[in-house]
Amino acid sequence: MSRRCHVEVDSRRYELPVVVGTEGERAIDIRGLRRQTGMITLDDGYANTGSCTSDITYIDGEQGILRYRGIPIEELAENASFVETAWLVIFGRLPSVTDRNRFSNLLTENSMLPDNMRKHFEAFPPHAHPMAILSAMINALSTYEPQRQIESDDDVELAAARLMSRVRTIAAASYKSSVDEPLIYPRYDFKYCENFLHMMFSLPYKEYEPSPEVARAINLFMLLHADHEQNCSTSTVRMVASGQANMFASCAAGVCALWGPLHGGANVAVIQMLEAIRASGTGVADHVRRVKNKEAGLRLMGFGHRVYRNTDPRAKLLKKSADQLLDHLHIDDPLLEIAQELEQTALEDPYFIERKLYPNVDFYSGIILRAVGIPLDMFTVMFAIGRMPGWIANWKEIHDDPHSRIYRPRQVYTGNPLTEFVPRDRR
Ligand SMILES: CC(C)(COP(=O)(O)OP(=O)(O)OC[C@H]1O[C@@H](n2cnc3c(N)ncnc32)[C@H](O)[C@@H]1OP(=O)(O)O)[C@@H](O)C(=O)NCCC(=O)NCCS
Repeated sequence: MSRRCHVEVDSRRYELPVVVGTEGERAIDIRGLRRQTGMITLDDGYANTGSCTSDITYIDGEQGILRYRGIPIEELAENASFVETAWLVIFGRLPSVTDRNRFSNLLTENSMLPDNMRKHFEAFPPHAHPMAILSAMINALSTYEPQRQIESDDDVELAAARLMSRVRTIAAASYKSSVDEPLIYPRYDFKYCENFLHMMFSLPYKEYEPSPEVARAINLFMLLHADHEQNCSTSTVRMVASGQANMFASCAAGVCALWGPLHGGANVAVIQMLEAIRASGTGVADHVRRVKNKEAGLRLMGFGHRVYRNTDPRAKLLKKSADQLLDHLHIDDPLLEIAQELEQTALEDPYFIERKLYPNVDFYSGIILRAVGIPLDMFTVMFAIGRMPGWIANWKEIHDDPHSRIYRPRQVYTGNPLTEFVPRDRR
């Protein structure tokens, strides 16, 4: 197989190397292109651009494959916890029992926020969006350890444990502030997901004890969100990390990038869409008709993916989990029925078939979160908690690379040509 490719510019031929990944994916290495030809490439939305090589996550969008560090997501979903998966994603191998215990202890020991930080919550307005609070507070965490240098994997492990553990405490505390309830301290005897649910739903006079089924569903939700290669928020984390910003600042930027409805906010948009269909009373078929007519830019939320053009393997696992959870909780959710009808209608419709639009991870995750009692404006926060290992792993990959360069794309300028400055009295 040729490891070089040729481009012709102004009748001159140039040779460029081809990089081949572990699974045979090929990329033209254009690092020498501008130097050789004086030209840059243009790829609006980066759909054809590999921004880096990475050892963390493999996706085959055509075949619906997702693997963390080579291990299929289905096997992790069946056999591993979110915490084990997080360690795998960050450090590149399954944790030994010793690694697992050490990391669990670090998570437990670092779950409390610095006491002074509790005052920050009082400064936010009553209905502040939890994503804004989350990003601000992750950044604020770095102010509590200004001198910390990350030099070894042990340093990364401690910082990662602090971030992963406290992000969960911050998320629950931002919810408690928004509903004007006292903040709840973490418990040392609970596992990662149980502890989060406890801090969300316990009251000083009434402990919330999550059932194993609820904890399992949240564990699966987090595990399936742990990483997803160079999506919008992860690319943002890498962009910020490439300027040598610290782990906390880089991940806070990731939270901001995740917020929007075309990315992490899609799980909220799905529920809002299902509620709107229910309230309209005009049914699923009418909504699908309006989407196909592109009325007011309407899209079927929770459908389509930049990379998956067949099936999103996470959606399959979450659908099964949603069915099991609703069964266990004896919840008869009318939104689930609408979701099922919508899925069926879209999967049989040529508009969606031709464009290869299938349910994505957000389509069923909202149903699970709703069943557990997570309020709508916390959905994207849940995604952020789950995605933290992936952001940390990508930050680490840049941090550990001695050849890492600052990310600095170029552009093609299309504005005014050279324009004279007109003094104020002549305008
Ligand atoms: C995820 C998403 C942003 C990917 O976008 P993309 O790769 O840039 O896809 P494009 O915008 O190029 O869309 C290609 C075509 O499919 C259509 N399309 C894409 N997603 C669609 C959706 N969810 N509903 C209806 N039509 C959709 C586009 O309108 C376009 O149609 P056209 O060829 O007639 O113009 C997009 O599918 C989307 O907006 N989905 C809904 C939001 C969502 O669920 N996001 C979470 C992703 S995990």
